[in-house]
Amino acid sequence: MRKIIISNFKMNTVPSDMKAYSMQLATKTAGSKNKIIVCPPYTHFCIAKQFLDGSKIEIGAQNVSDVEAGKNTGEISASMLKDAGVTYCIIGHSERRSKFKESDRLINKKIKMALSQGLKVILCIGEDKVTREAKGACAFVKNQLDDALKGIYENELESVIIAYEPIWAIGTGKTATLKDIEKMVGVLRKEIAYLYNDKTKINIVYGGSIDINNYKKIISLPCLDGALIGGASLDVDNFSVIARENY
Ligand code: 13P
Repeated sequence: MRKIIISNFKMNTVPSDMKAYSMQLATKTAGSKNKIIVCPPYTHFCIAKQFLDGSKIEIGAQNVSDVEAGKNTGEISASMLKDAGVTYCIIGHSERRSKFKESDRLINKKIKMALSQGLKVILCIGEDKVTREAKGACAFVKNQLDDALKGIYENELESVIIAYEPIWAIGTGKTATLKDIEKMVGVLRKEIAYLYNDKTKINIVYGGSIDINNYKKIISLPCLDGALIGGASLDVDNFSVIARENY
């Protein structure tokens, strides 16, 4: 089955790493049926674009501004990303929600801005450990989804990938269990059916401590359309194996 395999470098690597990474990834995944998206830091886009050219690998950003232009020192706009050859942007990553205090309202504004500029969105959703232990995970992710998608039309969901990333599984070496993933993806799909209708299609990927040893059984889950990979995507050999796998 064709899956969507996404890397998130977070704030790792330097631009001069990107040439070798891009060339190797393009070579090693040539002929793969999967959709591959790499999300390096902004400084790497130009090099990534140059050396991924001719491959089907797409480039994503890890964030985007909610406004179009102007007096916003240090921010990056959707049109800048688009012009730099970027087709996707991650919005609402838990690190941005917690460290940079991004609210559900801001995330909703960012999604609208990205879509209006022709950028596709990877929307991150996921509960923390305390919420999970208090048995509040299902209600929490439903609320996050409702708030993020307020005012988004059904036809725009073609350009949205939901990444279920439980915070307690990110960078901890401990993934959610297959049962957890199936349950939470089911909750998200049901909420999409409630918000739109039961024929509405949406791609949902999982992220959180996927690595070269555990990727296959997770990504092969029929309920999942793919994976969002942090730490393990920094190693181009490992990421290529995951990205070219026939699921
Ligand atoms: P890890 O794969 O390092 O757990 O990170 C997941 C993630 O946050 C991807 O966005």
